[in-house]
Amino acid sequence: MRQKIVAGNWKMNCDLEETKTLLKALKSKLDSVDPAVNLIVAPSFTNLLPAVEMLKDTSIEVAAQNMHPKPNGPYTGEVSAKMLSSIGVKTVILGHSERRKYFGETKALLNDKVNTALTQNFKVIFCVGESLAARQDKQHFQVVQSQLKGSLFYLSKKNWEHLILAYEPVWAIGTGETATAQQAQEMHAFIREEIAQNYDQQTADQVTILYGGSVKPGNAQELFSQKDVDGGLIGGAALNADDFLNIANCF
Ligand code: PGA
Repeated sequence: MRQKIVAGNWKMNCDLEETKTLLKALKSKLDSVDPAVNLIVAPSFTNLLPAVEMLKDTSIEVAAQNMHPKPNGPYTGEVSAKMLSSIGVKTVILGHSERRKYFGETKALLNDKVNTALTQNFKVIFCVGESLAARQDKQHFQVVQSQLKGSLFYLSKKNWEHLILAYEPVWAIGTGETATAQQAQEMHAFIREEIAQNYDQQTADQVTILYGGSVKPGNAQELFSQKDVDGGLIGGAALNADDFLNIANCF
């Protein structure tokens, strides 16, 4: 079902003490957020278990930022879906542009990861988005279309109930530059149309599509007021409890 979601991607930030401080601050002000808005936080692997424990009596969900497609084996440094499940994490962010860029994650690998995650009953937040060069070349729709085709359009219709998409133009991530509400809406509508064409309108209408890229309390309202923008995937501003919660109040 289409939901209002504000998810915080903490990236490689916050050690254990900082994680606890941030979560404590979020918990103490949680009453200020409309219960219809679903909050998700994605700390680093080492802080997932403490986050699950600290948030167990709240509505805030904990997500991992990555996951290996194989169940176990000789993959030094990696973490499997089973390991995440065993500590109570059932949501994972996949396809973030930083994973694609710095860790060489291809569409085929992401296809594998998504498959594993869904088979293991995870909810997946799948990121797509074009580079600045692609936007300047007016190739942004083609890039996003090919990311969807390469990693997701082989899925069954039923799988889409467990998928959340995040449109994150690479040029807007961590740069302070946000897509205009119009640019976001245009791409979100395009993504929904692609899903409708590959599946059906009902499937397209129920998919939650988040916008990500320099979302802040000052620009979230305009972005979230767009017809096809169902919330945000927040990086930098998610590291400040007030900013994160203020963003959640921008619907
Ligand atoms: P940003 O990051 O909000 O710091 O731009 C968003 C993201 O990478 O998910």
